[in-house]
Amino acid sequence: MATAPQHLPMPEPVLRPMREDDVPAVVQAERDSYAFPWSEPVFRDCLRVGYLCRVLEIDHRFAGYGILSTGAGEAHILNVCVRPEHRCRGLGRRLVVGLFDLARAAGAEDLFLEVRPSNTTAIRLYQSLGLSQVGLRRGYYQAANGREDAIVMRLRLVP
Ligand SMILES: CC(C)(COP(=O)(O)OP(=O)(O)OC[C@H]1O[C@@H](n2cnc3c(N)ncnc32)[C@H](O)[C@@H]1OP(=O)(O)O)[C@@H](O)C(=O)NCCC(=O)NCCS
Repeated sequence: MATAPQHLPMPEPVLRPMREDDVPAVVQAERDSYAFPWSEPVFRDCLRVGYLCRVLEIDHRFAGYGILSTGAGEAHILNVCVRPEHRCRGLGRRLVVGLFDLARAAGAEDLFLEVRPSNTTAIRLYQSLGLSQVGLRRGYYQAANGREDAIVMRLRLVP
């Protein structure tokens, strides 16, 4: 009788700078994750203007990405995404914490992001990492039946 397969520990995730040749995988993950995905030119613009664009890899395989803008003591998480098949394994948390570290290294004192009120998974993740709601942008997002508000969340990065 064959031995039962061993449950191997998950390899250590790696967060590395996004490259131009990552964009097709990023766009595919975006389309697989959002009802109103960003287009390919938007991601290419993010790279061109120098936003901090990162790819999350697990075992050398593309698993997700994050995009951060920084300036004037503030950082804004513009996009965070884990491919559907890699979710619920702690990778979203690792990705967001990695973006916090980048923001601190860039000298940001506060970090902001917007999230749909319907995205309870992301809201729970952000709250568990210390972000809290500081505002609401009315009708900020496209939605199937009109527009959806954005919850604005903030984290103080320095004591
Ligand atoms: C939000 C997202 C990045 C989370 O990625 P993930 O790898 O599944 O997250 P993690 O496994 O690190 O889970 C982190 C926390 O998220 C929450 N969470 C994750 N999956 C959840 C689920 N199915 N239901 C409820 N909460 C969930 C939990 O609070 C979890 O913490 P816990 O594991 O301590 O309970 C992922 O769902 C995603 O890419 N969604 C599509 C894109 C998106 O909505 N991005 C955010 C835009 S603001």
